[in-house]
Amino acid sequence: MPATPSTAKLTIGDREIELPLIRGTEGEVAIDVRRLRAEMGVITYDPGFGNTGSCLSKVTFLNGEEGVLRYAGYPIEQLAENSHFLEVAWLLFYQELPTAKQLAAFEHEVKYHTMVHEDLKRFFSSLPKAGHPMAICAATVGALSTFYEEVKYDDPAEERWAAAVRLLAKMPTIAAYSYKHSVGQPFMYPRNDLPYSANALHMMFATPCEQYTPDPVAVKALDLLLILHADHEQNCSTSTVRTVGSSLANMFASVSAGISALWGPLHGGANQKVIEMLISIHDGERTAREFMDLAKDKNSGVRLMGFGHRVYRNYDPRAKILKKACHELLARTGTANPLLEIALELEAIALQDSYFVERKLYPNVDFYSGIIYQALNIPIDMFTVFFALGRLPGWISQWLEFHRDPDSRINRPRQVYQGHTMRDYKPIEAR
Ligand code: SDX
Repeated sequence: MPATPSTAKLTIGDREIELPLIRGTEGEVAIDVRRLRAEMGVITYDPGFGNTGSCLSKVTFLNGEEGVLRYAGYPIEQLAENSHFLEVAWLLFYQELPTAKQLAAFEHEVKYHTMVHEDLKRFFSSLPKAGHPMAICAATVGALSTFYEEVKYDDPAEERWAAAVRLLAKMPTIAAYSYKHSVGQPFMYPRNDLPYSANALHMMFATPCEQYTPDPVAVKALDLLLILHADHEQNCSTSTVRTVGSSLANMFASVSAGISALWGPLHGGANQKVIEMLISIHDGERTAREFMDLAKDKNSGVRLMGFGHRVYRNYDPRAKILKKACHELLARTGTANPLLEIALELEAIALQDSYFVERKLYPNVDFYSGIIYQALNIPIDMFTVFFALGRLPGWISQWLEFHRDPDSRINRPRQVYQGHTMRDYKPIEAR
């Protein structure tokens, strides 16, 4: 077995540079190009950063070719089976599973930060009821920092931890308030006797008029969704959170930017688009086969939402778990959902069709998640809000890792300028 090289050589004309190779614990190799511009006067070009590592990280590993996803070494399948969301949040923050004592203290700390300042309610009430809840959540999370400006900390790490706990604790409350505002129902306070996911469902669906007990089956399904969405290394919204944090903007501002990035239909907003796509087929706008023909036609402007991925060139392991959970949940609740049948039909067509097979396009996390959100009576425009709720510990853990990283500096990519070269100003009468 030839020795693995420790450097890479780059030759440009008669000049050569030897660049160090960095190896990850899972065998990934990166060329460290930090000296490239200074010593060779050139930069790299990689639109969408598909070949560019932005950081060294110990939080999450995924192998797109094999469809592997692990949080700090623990396979997503095992965490989905055995863990719960706050335990996974701790795992992502510390890259270790908590002891019973650590977990109890963490759950207690989160529990006693779930309320939001009463003035925040007026903030919601000033926004249009029909406003998309992702816009409301992004604005509210950004505004959260205004309530803590007087709180001073000697230790920055203590301030960051306080922000992490407040965000994790208050996000379900903010999410539920954005929904209650849209339906004109009174906000429901969090309950300290309910665990995290049950509390989220309580605040979403309880009213002051009658007792509401979250269905344990629904609570477990929501907790599973949150675990599966908790982190996914350097995706678009996480890279956004890191970039905003790299300017030393506070965690609330960074997460608010992450919520906005997640909203896009190519990213987390796809879960809403998938259900809308399935509904359009169910309502007879076109058959599944007709839809798939359009999805293969570049000029149609139609994409098979919930399919394809920048990294996975195999079945997204989260989609596998969600597909199975759809069947189990519908069976346990004795409900059927015709949209699931349509999703299964689309998947069956795609997995046989050369257009999708050649491009290695498989279901991603957004393809089946909406079926479960619907079974939980979560409205379609709240799907991406619940994606954000799940992704929150991932955003926070990556933000905290950035601030611990000695190599970290403000994110500021370069460009290749292709505009006009130097020219003199022309007075308007001469134009
Ligand atoms: C998430 O990064 C993450 O980790 C994200 C995420 C996370 O947990 O954070 O996993 C969550 O965002 C999942 C992705 C949700 N988005 C969608 O489901 C939207 C539909 N998918 C695509 O638009 C697309 O697949 C992306 C955006 C997900 C990935 O885009 P890429 O990597 O830039 O790939 P591409 O657009 O260059 O596609 C490569 C080829 C193209 O065809 P050719 O030019 O080679 O002929 O595949 C085609 C694309 O036209 N293609 C699709 C398609 N996805 C890619 N064609 C039809 N339908 C699709 N869904």
